[in-house]
Amino acid sequence: MLPESARLRFREMSLDDLDDLAGLLGDREVMAFYPAPMTRQDAARWIEWNQGLYRSRGHGLWVLTLRESGEFVGDCGLTPQIVDGVEELEVGYHVRPALQGQGYATEAAAASRDLARDELGARRLTAIIHPDNRPSQRVAEKIGLRPEKRTRDSRGDDIVLYAADW
Ligand SMILES: CC(C)(COP(=O)(O)OP(=O)(O)OC[C@H]1O[C@@H](n2cnc3c(N)ncnc32)[C@H](O)[C@@H]1OP(=O)(O)O)[C@@H](O)C(=O)NCCC(=O)NCCS
Repeated sequence: MLPESARLRFREMSLDDLDDLAGLLGDREVMAFYPAPMTRQDAARWIEWNQGLYRSRGHGLWVLTLRESGEFVGDCGLTPQIVDGVEELEVGYHVRPALQGQGYATEAAAASRDLARDELGARRLTAIIHPDNRPSQRVAEKIGLRPEKRTRDSRGDDIVLYAADW
């Protein structure tokens, strides 16, 4: 099962997407709130991690393309994450700098939220966001998530946990 939205197509990622995903996740701007941009090998592991999630959970981060042109936009989807020792379902998103500011992350995150709530029966959705990452916080707010607590991730870095409970 895949999310659906007006302008974006969602599909499972594969190693055929390595060039696009390594470009996205290796970009300094896109990874400004991560410890470092990903290497090509990190991006290959990212794809394999998501393929494992499709098999074990039926969902993960998916590749986003424009319906109209097929152009690569980024990724978005649903992954399990541990926060303060508790497993949470997280909505995640990355959009190529050239296509940011057009509402694509919000559209993709809203479609992922709808699939989580309406098809997967999730009772709760979260987003783990760096305290200074305003664009990501705005996306979370616009799909109905609210800041719940400030804590640290597995690396010990400060994060804000955004959440919605249904
Ligand atoms: C977060 C991200 C996915 C948003 O993508 P996008 O397609 O540009 O998002 P949208 O167009 O749907 O909306 C972005 C919101 O952030 C706002 N925004 C964008 N750039 C901003 C900035 N530099 N400062 C403050 N707000 C900003 C937009 O104005 C919009 O909010 P608004 O409706 O109140 O105006 C994109 O910035 C990105 O890929 N960032 C790097 C990866 C990342 O941090 N991912 C999240 C990890 S938790």
